[in-house]
Amino acid sequence: MVGSLIPSSRFLAKKMLHNIPFQNAKVIVELGPGTGIFTEKIIEKLAPDTHLVVIELNDVFYQNLSAKVTNEHCHIVHGSASDLGKILQDLGFEKADCVVSSLPLTNFPKDLRIDIMNAVTDCLTPTGTFIQFQYTLQSKKHFQRIFKHVSINYAAFNFPPAFVYCCSNS
Ligand SMILES: C[S@@+](CC[C@H](N)C(=O)[O-])C[C@H]1O[C@@H](n2cnc3c(N)ncnc32)[C@H](O)[C@@H]1O
Repeated sequence: MVGSLIPSSRFLAKKMLHNIPFQNAKVIVELGPGTGIFTEKIIEKLAPDTHLVVIELNDVFYQNLSAKVTNEHCHIVHGSASDLGKILQDLGFEKADCVVSSLPLTNFPKDLRIDIMNAVTDCLTPTGTFIQFQYTLQSKKHFQRIFKHVSINYAAFNFPPAFVYCCSNS
């Protein structure tokens, strides 16, 4: 479920944040924050009117993050990424401008992976962006079937080194 032995590096965090539209986004979603390495950096750059919805399944990570994060525009949710649509609806948001994911998708059963990707594509605005890191290029074809545009960036200074997929339809 966690998919990694140690948290991601600040170098990977920088590459993950690079394509987040901080200036224009009304709602940003983070899936699988773990210890919150990306969450902290996203909050630092969050515009005053932007909301951040953070979804974590693991109870301990969720409790720790909830205790740490005080920003009133940041909503920490204990739940599964597959319920993204309902979670956004419950918070009063219709769509998300950007979904940033650290989920270990390739470790998941196929059905869960499909449910999560359907939830992501359903909730994104037409100009929305999906950003996901993976340790391999295995997901490239999969993302290319879902999104019109897929670009890949490499984060060498991470253990293990990671690929950052940036996907959109516009
Ligand atoms: C590889 S860790 C990434 C943690 C952190 N973002 C980082 O990069 O260091 C994956 C995270 O996804 C969470 N996770 C796994 N399945 C999930 C699901 N269905 N919904 C939400 N979070 C999930 C795990 O509990 C874990 O915190």
